[in-house]
Amino acid sequence: MKSFYIKTFGCQMNVYDGQRISGMLCGLGMMPTDDVTTADLIILNTCAVREKASNKVFSELGRIRNRKKPDALFGIIGCVAREEGANSFRRIPELNFVLGPQSYHKLADIIENPDAKLLNIDLSGLEKFDALPPMIDNPVVAYIPIQEGCNHCCTYCIVPYTRGRELSRSFDDVINDVHAATGAIEICFLGQNVNGYKDKDGKNLADLIQATAKIESVKRIRFTSSYPTEMSDGLIKLFGQEPKLLPFLNMPIQSGSPDVLTRMNRPYSLVLYIDIIEKLRDVCPNIQISSDFIIGFPGELDSDFEMTCDIARRIGYINSYSFKYSPRPHTAAATMDNQIPENIKKQRLKILDDILTENNRTFNESCIGHTMPCLIEGRDKTGGHLLARTPYMQQVIIAATSAAAVAPIQNIKITSANKCSLRGKIV
Ligand code: SAH
Ligand code: F3S
Repeated sequence: MKSFYIKTFGCQMNVYDGQRISGMLCGLGMMPTDDVTTADLIILNTCAVREKASNKVFSELGRIRNRKKPDALFGIIGCVAREEGANSFRRIPELNFVLGPQSYHKLADIIENPDAKLLNIDLSGLEKFDALPPMIDNPVVAYIPIQEGCNHCCTYCIVPYTRGRELSRSFDDVINDVHAATGAIEICFLGQNVNGYKDKDGKNLADLIQATAKIESVKRIRFTSSYPTEMSDGLIKLFGQEPKLLPFLNMPIQSGSPDVLTRMNRPYSLVLYIDIIEKLRDVCPNIQISSDFIIGFPGELDSDFEMTCDIARRIGYINSYSFKYSPRPHTAAATMDNQIPENIKKQRLKILDDILTENNRTFNESCIGHTMPCLIEGRDKTGGHLLARTPYMQQVIIAATSAAAVAPIQNIKITSANKCSLRGKIV
């Protein structure tokens, strides 16, 4: 039996794509392997959002080409494949295939015709979702993409180029995927602009959440990433009405400076952004918000950066992500004037990270003494501890009393906390 090795970089969307591809390859009679030196088919499933991620893929390809079996089929798929296109073959001549994020289902062609060089970086829309089989493994948390691409065109972002215009999957297809994830206790809907989801019949994300909440076996629902101005009143209200919808929302602000937001082509005001959070807190007083931040966007002044720090403190975000601005090909910001030197980006990132870490520590410590329903995700390597997630996605470490299986949702009393995680016990 032939074997395949797949390594996934980047976002949850890629993780999902990787699972579906594995399902397809198993359906073709292949088996997965972790050993790149014996694999018959080697796939790197890639991310192009920042330059570092992109470079990582090529250094990994360089390492693999010297270790793989000479006749192994070897290629890249995903956003770096789309970013680099035919140039990938020039950089790594041993590559057999280069497939963009909407062409994964073409992998079968290279298996049938291994002597060809296969390049397909077309944006063929939602075809892949129909062509790939449902997931084969049965995770407790199922990540389900509900759209491809993005129409927002933030000036720093390569995603609209790599994944194309925004397309929402049909409501029925998504719900079929939810039903197919039979072991899932938590469903996480994925999209670049997930709260802008609208299918051809006008069904929206709130409709998807309500339909999913009716499924008895599903206990928790969340979604990521939200665009601020797409938070409809109906969706906001749902946080107060639907107990299965977790009180945690990732809604990236990116910057606290109105000037920088304008240059990023994120045309919302801070007043509007804060107003959305206030509305959310009115209907769901215990909700927590997470954000993504970009530091050192072209032309970012000290005063702009200060505004970002202010908003980070003011909102009290938890579990947030901060990135140094990385110029990407095919984006408007890459050619803007006043690119910020690396040392300044580094200094600013450290200052913001300290604020975000402090926010996390404050929130984690405020949880001590409280009991929360947590999702048991597994055991640590030694088997001595259970690992769980709170409704706010904090990790909780629980001393396991026995090796016996426990129900997936447990009430956990938090006994201690630090900036990264919590400790607790089952009550
Ligand atoms: N809406 C998307 C965002 C995609 S990229 C989602 O669902 O995840 C994820 C994050 O990467 C963005 O929110 C942004 O903070 C960051 N990012 C995107 N392009 C970037 C760039 N050129 N440099 C640095 N960070 C970037
Ligand atoms: Fe990228 Fe902005 Fe869309 S960050 S994915 S263009 S909302």
